[in-house]
Amino acid sequence: MTNDAHSLGRRYLETLALFEDEIHLPDSTKPATRERHVLRGAIEPLPDDLAVFNNSICTCTKCALGHTRTKFVFGDGNPQAKIVFIGEAPGQDEDVQGIPFVGRAGQLLNQLLAGVGLSRRDVYICNVLKCRPPGNRDPEPVEVDTCSPYLLTQLSVISPNFLVCLGRHAAAALLGTQAPMKELRGRVLPWNGMQVLVTYHPAYYLHNGSQTAIGEQDFRLLRSLYDEISA
Ligand code: URA
Repeated sequence: MTNDAHSLGRRYLETLALFEDEIHLPDSTKPATRERHVLRGAIEPLPDDLAVFNNSICTCTKCALGHTRTKFVFGDGNPQAKIVFIGEAPGQDEDVQGIPFVGRAGQLLNQLLAGVGLSRRDVYICNVLKCRPPGNRDPEPVEVDTCSPYLLTQLSVISPNFLVCLGRHAAAALLGTQAPMKELRGRVLPWNGMQVLVTYHPAYYLHNGSQTAIGEQDFRLLRSLYDEISA
């Protein structure tokens, strides 16, 4: 990430701290459907729908990952979802199947969703990167920069109420912050008219089983916010 992006991220969090008392849970009078808002950095004109968009980018070779992937992993779920989950990048299973979060981390994500009465059909799931980094290494800044117009376009088309960043890479890419997870998680962060929640990546819970209660707590918060706008 560039220095500009770093300082933007820091400023975002500093500003947030100033207005912390003024960040409210969504007003239940807020309309359940949001107007489409073209996010800065999205590709314009916006595609009519996600399928059209997927078809237009699924052969992408703008970065090196386009030459090593098996399948392009666009996203999965309800294109009208009010909640979008953003992971880091496809892993081995996702690369083979072309669907995000189908491996062990995906099974845990399904369980966390089920724990609050939601399923993958209720939400939309995608990643910052659409192609697998070899050996599941961390995304390179140039890969994030190259791929982020795709994510921003998806989010503009779906126009959800809530974004859930799964792990620090998703939070860094979306919010432009390097703040540690313990500062970010469990809070409702306003971003471009949406509410952002940051939680640990499900893979973290696979390796730190005792921490899964934290994830469950974050999903309960998500569910209560979702119920507010659905009331
Ligand atoms: N981890 C991610 O971040 N995304 C996936 O799709 C799978 C595992």
